[in-house]
Amino acid sequence: MRRLFPILILVFLIGCRQNSVAPTGTVTENAMVVSARIEASALGSAIMEEGGNAFDAMAATEMALAVAFPFAGNLGGGGFMVYRTAQGEIGGLDYREKAPAAAHKEMYLDSLGNVIPNMSTVGATAVGVPGTVAGVFAAHKKFGKLPIADIFEKVAQLADKGIIVTEKQAKRLERYRPTIIEVNGDSTLFATPFKVGDTIKYPALAKTLRIIAKNGKDGFYKGEVAQKLASHIQAGGGFVSEEDLANYEAAWRDPVTFNYKDLRIISMSPPSSGGFTMNQILKMMEPHDLASFGHNSEKHIQLFTEAARRAYADRNYWLGDPDFVEIPMEELLSDQYLKERMMGFTFDKATKSEAIQRGEVNIVESDQTTHYSIVDHEGNAVSVTTTINGAYGSKLYNDELGFFLNNEMDDFSAKPGVPNMFGLIGAEANSIAPGKRMLSSMTPTIVEKDGALYMVVGTPGGSTIITAVAQTILNVYEFDMSMQEAVNAPRFHHQWLPDMVIFEPQGFSDSLKLNLEAKGYKINQDRTPIMGKVDAIRILPDGRLEGGADKRGDDTAVGF
Ligand code: GLY
Repeated sequence: MRRLFPILILVFLIGCRQNSVAPTGTVTENAMVVSARIEASALGSAIMEEGGNAFDAMAATEMALAVAFPFAGNLGGGGFMVYRTAQGEIGGLDYREKAPAAAHKEMYLDSLGNVIPNMSTVGATAVGVPGTVAGVFAAHKKFGKLPIADIFEKVAQLADKGIIVTEKQAKRLERYRPTIIEVNGDSTLFATPFKVGDTIKYPALAKTLRIIAKNGKDGFYKGEVAQKLASHIQAGGGFVSEEDLANYEAAWRDPVTFNYKDLRIISMSPPSSGGFTMNQILKMMEPHDLASFGHNSEKHIQLFTEAARRAYADRNYWLGDPDFVEIPMEELLSDQYLKERMMGFTFDKATKSEAIQRGEVNIVESDQTTHYSIVDHEGNAVSVTTTINGAYGSKLYNDELGFFLNNEMDDFSAKPGVPNMFGLIGAEANSIAPGKRMLSSMTPTIVEKDGALYMVVGTPGGSTIITAVAQTILNVYEFDMSMQEAVNAPRFHHQWLPDMVIFEPQGFSDSLKLNLEAKGYKINQDRTPIMGKVDAIRILPDGRLEGGADKRGDDTAVGF
């Protein structure tokens, strides 16, 4: 026993890491919102300063992002919320879009069975039934404190006042303007060539928000807004009907929860693949003393890559909408299964993805979707990722109602074995069916340490969402980074297929890449995209909050 004692102490220390590193991000005493735009964070924070809680702030932030960040913020899309109340109660809300009733498995295939280019990505044919407004009302009904009409009125005032175009926003608008015009004609709002410093006002959206403020959820899903929405989508050849809108409901789901060393991680369950895939990745890594390898070292990258390779292979095959498909979650997340899955792993050489399953695709750069994290003065935490899928969604903009519509139908597997816009290959579990929700990678996550709230985290980034969230958690926990440092740190990604490791432009040396290549890793040399825009909050040991607002975007932490 005496000889065993030091070993036991060592095992305990490896298993229970403490991070008391000084904060480098924005620090507040009571409450905080971190989101893609200062206007949305400020409105969410103001709502809490007026006595609202994190769920009131969620409603304000979600709607304000449609004004300040129409690239991904939305009324015409969907999302997921994971929450943890101050009392430690946890849950998940699924307001993911659904396939319309007229949808069917082969709707995006031609008579020869080939995928019709652009049909699931651009314009009205790509639109799924939006869930965002239903999600906001479901969250608020269960937990909100302030009148929802007052919250919507504040967002309507922001829409009337408008927002000032940032440099990054001007570049994005310029890049997508031709497609927006192609889909909507040249009299649409975003046909205007907005420059840095210009103000974009949204009178039509303000009007829609006030109709919803007056009539509640039905103000969006029934009546004049629903009529205008359905007829606009159908005029463009799309499938969403008034009945689809009237039938839409958000769904409460039990989140995926698992322990990584002494952390408890709470993340979104299917139809998001986020929690499941991160659970597999981190559990496959857990037996190793990651901190001793060094951050973004060869061994760190190898271990993470091999775990991600295996997890994404399972993700793509097994996962879909749990209301439609049986997912053997318990088996796929069991310790025994994950141990066996890593049996072939060695630090000497790369596993080949073909050896796990076959396929060949191209990865597509993406930082669409958006995430925000909120903690209120009572200690309630909300982690939300929301999306219209692609940049400005399907590009279909309803000028009468003032918002973009999603192209979320592309997140279904249009044809097994054929990649979607994120290069993800789907299987039967994620095939299209009426009323079904498409598989997502969104990973809104909350982390507990020693039973207390420790971190709220998430990001956009398509298929790279899951790896970016996992790496951010590891950066804080294993590599002693502050929240802001963890968010800023360079990221890498592997998703089984294509069998390649992709690196962000900065932070990875040529010699590191050469060493990995020598071990058989294929390195993506052509493209060096940014991966995600993580917005996170860390609870400091003294109870204050540190924001991690991603420097890759206009993301900002605001609180008090
Ligand atoms: N539309 C991106 C996702 O849901 O993963």
